[in-house]
Amino acid sequence: TQADIGLIGLGVMGANLALNIADNGYKVAVFNRTAEKTTAFMENAAHLKDQFIACYSLEELAAAIKAPRPIIMMVKAGEAVDQQIEALKPFLEENDILIDAGNSDYHDSNRRYRALADTPFTFVGMGVSGGAEGARHGPSIMVGASDAAYARIQPILDAISAKHNGEPCSALMGPEGAGHFVKTLHNGIEYADMQMIAEVHEVLTKCLGLSIAEQAAVFKKWNEGPLASYLIEITANVMDVIDEESGKPILDVILDTAGQKGTGRWSAVEAHALGVPATGIDAAVASRCISANRVLRQEIAEIYPNNETPLTWDDKQAGIDACERALIAGKIAAYAEGFAVLAAGGAENGWNLPMGTIARIWRQGCIIRSRFLDEIASAYDEKPDLQSLYLAPTIAERMKDAAPGLRKTLAKAIGSGIPMPGLAAAMGSFDMMRQKRTAAYVIQGQRDFFGQHGFERTDKPGTDFHGPWPAGGA
Ligand code: 6PG
Repeated sequence: TQADIGLIGLGVMGANLALNIADNGYKVAVFNRTAEKTTAFMENAAHLKDQFIACYSLEELAAAIKAPRPIIMMVKAGEAVDQQIEALKPFLEENDILIDAGNSDYHDSNRRYRALADTPFTFVGMGVSGGAEGARHGPSIMVGASDAAYARIQPILDAISAKHNGEPCSALMGPEGAGHFVKTLHNGIEYADMQMIAEVHEVLTKCLGLSIAEQAAVFKKWNEGPLASYLIEITANVMDVIDEESGKPILDVILDTAGQKGTGRWSAVEAHALGVPATGIDAAVASRCISANRVLRQEIAEIYPNNETPLTWDDKQAGIDACERALIAGKIAAYAEGFAVLAAGGAENGWNLPMGTIARIWRQGCIIRSRFLDEIASAYDEKPDLQSLYLAPTIAERMKDAAPGLRKTLAKAIGSGIPMPGLAAAMGSFDMMRQKRTAAYVIQGQRDFFGQHGFERTDKPGTDFHGPWPAGGA
């Protein structure tokens, strides 16, 4: 019999997704550009072999799938996706659906969606999160598709996705690149979460004198509270691992240069383009860039050695608790920003993104899954048109409790010369958001002084007032 779906690209993610689909009772036709990968995949999947049809050409692949065909492409984001679409076109028929499941730039997905709209086929841009494990056992899936295309692929996506209390962590985000846009912001938030965790690790090390093994225990404890999340859990797991060669904790031998493939940076760029701040994501992207510039850092470090004596806590547990609250407050600020970018991007593209659903499908399967997302989902349930996470009563309560801990942690860390770009950005963003009157009147005064840009006044209506500037002013 023919396959229910096709899958192109048998790298780790593609192969795992194919196995996941097969586990759920669907038959999958698989293809990879290099035939050896297909052969190796079939050998690995011998126990499920009736669930797969190995194909060695795109023609074979098309013939192996029941029409109209859904075909998932899990190839490298960028040009490879365009090439794959072009290569497939001659074998496609009316109503076939091409699903790009890679980490694509949503602008590319917008373009591909529109380009294919004039053909008999349909394009779907689909964000998939959860790493290799997620792909294998249940990812979080953010779909950008027409309603009609989505209706056809929804049963398979619901089946293979992660579940939260039985609810699939997969949903339609909107048409065009909506799915990849949401996935991009997911990754931006992922970067912010990761950066803030790394910063707190340094505070635990330098201000609290905790060994990596002790920190693993702290993170495990945190994982039972409001911070409970995949990233906190795996941080504890990473901290527990001892390097076989040196006998040291693996974290002591991993080089301090962070990689990045682009999605975090895209989030920051989108935020700027929309005029919506994402300071936590910005700081996380910038920090990865600084980390990567290792050679220059060595040279600069020679001129400015860190001579600050670490500021400590008399009561260690109080310090650990402050760090926990720092992460909670930092997370709230970063998510408030991230969700604001999502809302603005949705509006800009005319998508009306389902904000509550985004929080709901991020509760399981994806990298940023956490208890906190459950709270965000509830906040949107209570108020679907929530303007800012800061306004949700449950989140406000948490922020009021956590913000002082963030402030204390920053005071100790910055006084100790520990770089805190992520958490400091979170604090700055929150502190500005809660100002009734910001210091921006100084900027308005300066703008009018040098360029007659005009300002508004606090004491009367009107938009184009100017200062009685002395000579030298414009
Ligand atoms: C996910 C992840 C994943 C991403 C990695 C690496 O949601 O499963 O976001 O899609 O590829 O996180 O990203 P960087 O190489 O940019 O850190």
